[in-house]
Amino acid sequence: MIGVFDSGLGGLSVLAAIARALPQADLLYLADSAHLPYGPKSDDFIRARVLAIGQHLATLGCDTIVVACNTATVAAVHALREQLPSTQVIGVEPGIKPAAATSNTHRIAVLATESTARSDGLARLIREHAGAVSVHIEACPGWATQVETLHLDEAGFAAQVNAKISALLDAGADRLVLGCTHYTFLAPLLTPLLAGRAELIDVADAVARQVVRLTDGRAHGSGRLSLLATANPQRLQAALSALNLSWLLPRLDGEARLAIIPA
Ligand code: DGL
Repeated sequence: MIGVFDSGLGGLSVLAAIARALPQADLLYLADSAHLPYGPKSDDFIRARVLAIGQHLATLGCDTIVVACNTATVAAVHALREQLPSTQVIGVEPGIKPAAATSNTHRIAVLATESTARSDGLARLIREHAGAVSVHIEACPGWATQVETLHLDEAGFAAQVNAKISALLDAGADRLVLGCTHYTFLAPLLTPLLAGRAELIDVADAVARQVVRLTDGRAHGSGRLSLLATANPQRLQAALSALNLSWLLPRLDGEARLAIIPA
């Protein structure tokens, strides 16, 4: 079974890509909704959550775990691999490499949570893959929380997003990296603002391809999906329809359940 987790709804974008790529795989999605957002929290707090959730998923029988959260990946994917040496652990990192490789203006921007924006992990990715381009890191406090409300076109928020994106475009960025899995669900708001001047770079499909590669055809089950949340499991289930993922509903093995995972 493949376990996929995030602080909340964002990782559903990665789950959807995996479900499309591996229709027979048994999937378990866990939202740590009792502790979101991760973005403003300390590395120590995020690491403790990642280790506790990873252990819980392994105990439930997941042999592959996808950390479907950039913030959790930069803070703790290495620690999780150390803790679970016999489990395949796959993280999600901002798509700096594809953005830098395809930029025509040689200017790219990364939209990320506060924690990812200041992380050594992001600085390393930029050093390794974007030496020849200028990279602007834009922290977007509150964006993941706005996605959680499911009111994505609320006027005040749309104005804030518009101001940030316009400034990035005016500075010449032609690739905007979605460095938080929640931001995939903002694409309908972001795309019209780009007016053809820039492209969004999302790694969800690339992560799904990596899961296919690393599970090497072993991900065969009955295609069922279990949903768990550390708070409000009903909200997680209802979000599938609100986020245009109702095609996942027939895969559900029952109602979303509450997961109790002490830190
Ligand atoms: N979805 C997460 C990410 O990819 C974290 C959002 C949050 O909890 O702040 O970074």
